[in-house]
Amino acid sequence: MDKFFQIINFAVMKNWTILEIIKWTTDFFKEKQIEKARLNAEYIVAHVLQCKRFDLYVRFEDIVSEIDRAEIRKLIVRRCKNEPLQYVLGETEFYGYRFFVNSAVLIPRPETEYLVEKIIKENPSLESVLDIGTGSGAIAVSLKKELPNCNVTASDISEKALEIAKKNAAENQVTIEFIQSDLFENIEDKYSVIVSNPPYIPLREYKDIDSEVKDFEPQSALLAEADGLHYYQKILEQAKEYLHENGIVYFEIGHDQAERIKKIAENNGFFDVETLKDLNEFDRMMRIK
Ligand SMILES: C[S@@+](CC[C@H](N)C(=O)[O-])C[C@H]1O[C@@H](n2cnc3c(N)ncnc32)[C@H](O)[C@@H]1O
Repeated sequence: MDKFFQIINFAVMKNWTILEIIKWTTDFFKEKQIEKARLNAEYIVAHVLQCKRFDLYVRFEDIVSEIDRAEIRKLIVRRCKNEPLQYVLGETEFYGYRFFVNSAVLIPRPETEYLVEKIIKENPSLESVLDIGTGSGAIAVSLKKELPNCNVTASDISEKALEIAKKNAAENQVTIEFIQSDLFENIEDKYSVIVSNPPYIPLREYKDIDSEVKDFEPQSALLAEADGLHYYQKILEQAKEYLHENGIVYFEIGHDQAERIKKIAENNGFFDVETLKDLNEFDRMMRIK
């Protein structure tokens, strides 16, 4: 029987318990070669039932209403088309906080949490920070949550991304100044720290990107010209104008870009340049003074 016909049946069948739906969905995802099938199934069911995933375990025998089954079905269909789980759910977690996401913003990655952690540890009394290319606002919102006395400004070229970032600031109850800007174009102040996780995938690597990323995440958040270095070059060319004395630039970088970014930094008068590794020992961040 055609799988989507089966899934329609699933929506109309009566008296399905939470456990039955989770099992059915897990099998269905496995057939569709969705990784971590059970986990995906649990997240979707928990999301629709508006409970924590772990709460499902004490509710396995509850019957799921027809309305909720129909909603679960919609999300299953989207996930089967390889849409990332975070977009299907419309949310994700970053640095322990909840963030809304949609296809206008990159899904914040765990590697980026490490960048946030470094900035906090190295600058516990940070006065001001500018997050360039804020996307969902993950970096800016997390920094403001952890360093409430810091003035946080977040910019992005994309109006749609800024809408989501503003929603995330409100959701997490922080005040951030948002500026729509092509890099520094509309930026006027100076900051103690400039942080950016810019697009850094070289155009030539586009074809090799995982289809879940390529088909759903915004190209404008991923790809960069000049072999992936365009945004580092542009930011470092102008950063001094927007930094206080002794200001620092923090970048997330691609694992093989450190040496080339170091050269760009030196060409622009920055001589204290350090590359920081992530937990997997990959070059992942740069601190440029
Ligand atoms: C890799 S995403 C990072 C998103 C978020 N900061 C994070 O770490 O999850 C890069 C972001 O840069 C933005 N961007 C691309 N070109 C830009 C430009 N010229 N000026 C400002 N932001 C830009 C994209 O819209 C996207 O939101």
